[in-house]
Amino acid sequence: MLNDRSSILSLLETRRSAKPRELIGPGPTPAELERMLAIAARTPDHGKLTPWRFVTVADDQRDAFAALLQDALAEEDPGATGAHRQKEQDFAHYAGQLVVLVSAPVRGHKIPLWEQELSCGAAGMNLLLAAHALGYVAGWVTGWRAYSERVRSAFCAPGERIAGFIFIGHAGREIDDRPRPPLSDIVRQWRPRAE
Ligand SMILES: Cc1cc2nc3c(=O)[nH]c(=O)nc-3n(C[C@H](O)[C@H](O)[C@H](O)COP(=O)(O)O)c2cc1C
Repeated sequence: MLNDRSSILSLLETRRSAKPRELIGPGPTPAELERMLAIAARTPDHGKLTPWRFVTVADDQRDAFAALLQDALAEEDPGATGAHRQKEQDFAHYAGQLVVLVSAPVRGHKIPLWEQELSCGAAGMNLLLAAHALGYVAGWVTGWRAYSERVRSAFCAPGERIAGFIFIGHAGREIDDRPRPPLSDIVRQWRPRAE
């Protein structure tokens, strides 16, 4: 069973995202969303720089988000097909709550940028865990939109960038697991080099 919330460990062992396009509503209540974001903010962060932001997009702002994506697509790919334009329209209206995760590093700081970006990724993971712990299913995607300057500047201050679009809703169909790497592929015992 995936997303088994019967214990903390079972949730950690079975957590599974859904594809945002397959989510159904409703998204979290305002109180639940606030709780998720507070949990997400409880993330390792070297130097207490909070190098991440969460930008929420309300349901009644989805048309404006769609218009932004259409403008950005026209800029990125003037020859975009009708099917691609429709895909962006659909993306902007995926069910559930949309949270845009923003990487907001403090540039020129003694804490390396890399560590600040790692913290942002951890905040995204924490948001997924919080959403799943509260009985929702989330999905984290990027795609060309995350790298479009027009979209970036609509969500981010200068120097910030989009780390992901995280949709939080409910699974619209039974979700399957994806292959997970065998530990033998990713874990090894350190062996000091012989001098
Ligand atoms: C930064 C980031 C960007 C991602 N972007 C996409 C994406 O654009 N499309 C996609 O299908 N999956 C994307 N994924 C992968 C899914 O969010 C998800 O991690 C994957 O399906 C594994 O699901 P899990 O959360 O159940 O392990 C991205 C993941 C990360 C961390």
